[in-house]
Amino acid sequence: MRIFIPRDAAAVAVGADVVATAFEQAAAISGLPVEIVRTGSRGLCWLEPMVEVATAAGRLAYGPVSVEDVASVLESMASNGPHALLLGVADEIPWLRRQTRLTFARCGVIDPRSLDDYRAHGGYKGLERALPLGSDAILNEVTASGLRGRGGAGFPTGIKWKTVAQAKADRKFIVCNADEGDSGTFADRMIMEGDPFLVIEGMTIAGITVGATKGYIYIRSEYPHAVEAMNAAIEAARRGGYLGDKIGGSTCSFDMEVRVGAGAYVCGEETSLLESLEGRRGIVRAKPPLPAHHGLFGKPTVINNVLSFAAIPFLLAEGAKAYADFGMGRSRGTMPIQLAGNIRQGGLFETAFGVTLGELVDDIGGGTFTGRPVRAVQVGGPLGAYFPRALFDTPFDYEAFAARDGLIGHGGIVVFDDSVDMRKQARFAMEFCAIESCGKCTPCRIGSTRGVETIEKIMRGERLTENLTLVEDLCNTMKFGSLCALGGFTPYPVLSALKHFREDFAPVPTTLQAAE
Ligand code: NAI
Ligand code: SF4
Repeated sequence: MRIFIPRDAAAVAVGADVVATAFEQAAAISGLPVEIVRTGSRGLCWLEPMVEVATAAGRLAYGPVSVEDVASVLESMASNGPHALLLGVADEIPWLRRQTRLTFARCGVIDPRSLDDYRAHGGYKGLERALPLGSDAILNEVTASGLRGRGGAGFPTGIKWKTVAQAKADRKFIVCNADEGDSGTFADRMIMEGDPFLVIEGMTIAGITVGATKGYIYIRSEYPHAVEAMNAAIEAARRGGYLGDKIGGSTCSFDMEVRVGAGAYVCGEETSLLESLEGRRGIVRAKPPLPAHHGLFGKPTVINNVLSFAAIPFLLAEGAKAYADFGMGRSRGTMPIQLAGNIRQGGLFETAFGVTLGELVDDIGGGTFTGRPVRAVQVGGPLGAYFPRALFDTPFDYEAFAARDGLIGHGGIVVFDDSVDMRKQARFAMEFCAIESCGKCTPCRIGSTRGVETIEKIMRGERLTENLTLVEDLCNTMKFGSLCALGGFTPYPVLSALKHFREDFAPVPTTLQAAE
């Protein structure tokens, strides 16, 4: 009997390791022949630890399984009998069936330590097709797919790669940005833990396309499980002939290594990340020059987010059209959306662009965990705008969000119920910026601290009209005067809170103030 238990950090946090040990012990006691396979997570976080067993009808899922449930679940698995935690065939669970899993197809299914398992599930087909294609044809495919950078900015990946491919240099680099710092985001972590060969394959294809033989994946230190999974996969890929010289039996060379960050949010900004990779403090560099021309160690560098590299193998294996057929407008393909915060069914939901915010929050997410009405949704991390219910018809699409003064960023959605105080959220945005600022430019370094002070004055009801005008003015200075997105995007949550939740910034009646 093959039993699948996630080793994903989110599942481990709610007991997956102890559940796995309990299954081993229960199997030994009952004498049942059990093989336990540790997988990634399928992304249904509220059902973790979700345990599966292979049957002739497909994998049956149970969840959430606690140590106390293990003996009865094992009995149900062995007898094919009913159980209160039985969720049915995993692939048939409506939450999974509704998704279009192009990037996360294998996550939660395969053993992330096994190159054979990866290959048995279609892994390395993209690279195998890319190798004989050559640089120009690969660039055409990536461009035709319409893939845009999944880190947040949505810059066309094909154009970025072409810039590096055309640059003349003795060395070039591939850098994967795995410094996933946005609140409420976990897609990079999940794919690194659940399908690490996919990221390696995507980076390898980037390497052969632009003529880079060395890659680095920069992972935040808060992700020890991802670091372990990536290191194990890199070693296995090397042993299997997919990293190093003559990759996949070709004449191409590409190798890579993991670098662990030291915990600064700003190191997710690409130039700051490059500084950190070079061994210096993570301070933002002025652009231009772009990393595509002058990147790591001054050499032309492709720097992309984990999800961008992870999208590449599919579109090469299946062709650009297969990817571009999904989506809307200029947002092609799928987006792994992360549902978090005060939400009943939080987790990873990969779907084509175009799904509305309301569908994601009310329908797929099932509303709030507390059962209270949803009041605000922050999309795109701590620098993303707050959306009220009135804007829930916004489709998940780069341009549609920008048209409503928001951003989809890295696809993180954080839900708040009606107990949220939007003044506190606006203050938090400024405080976050003040804490994480690298200090290089004045609007961000000084502006964020003045922002905290001014919002605190508003919270105390001091000179309300003047201070509200001052905050808006300050936000404009930060937006247009900051060197990077940290200072430049902090105004999004602040201004959206002011615009859509103005009532929270109204003077507090003196009787209430006294009560507080
Ligand atoms: P950007 O718009 O300056 O650049 C986007 C990318 O395109 C960069 O890699 C840049 O080097 C490249 N690029 C731009 N013009 C190019 C050209 N002509 N040729 C080749 N390459 C070119 O945006 P930036 O500052 O890199 O990123 C901002 C985004 O980061 C925001 O939208 C935000 O959503 C996101 N973000 C993501 C976080 C996360 O945890 N994933 C955290 C914080 C922000
Ligand atoms: Fe540094 Fe902030 Fe300026 Fe970015 S905006 S360069 S984080 S001081």
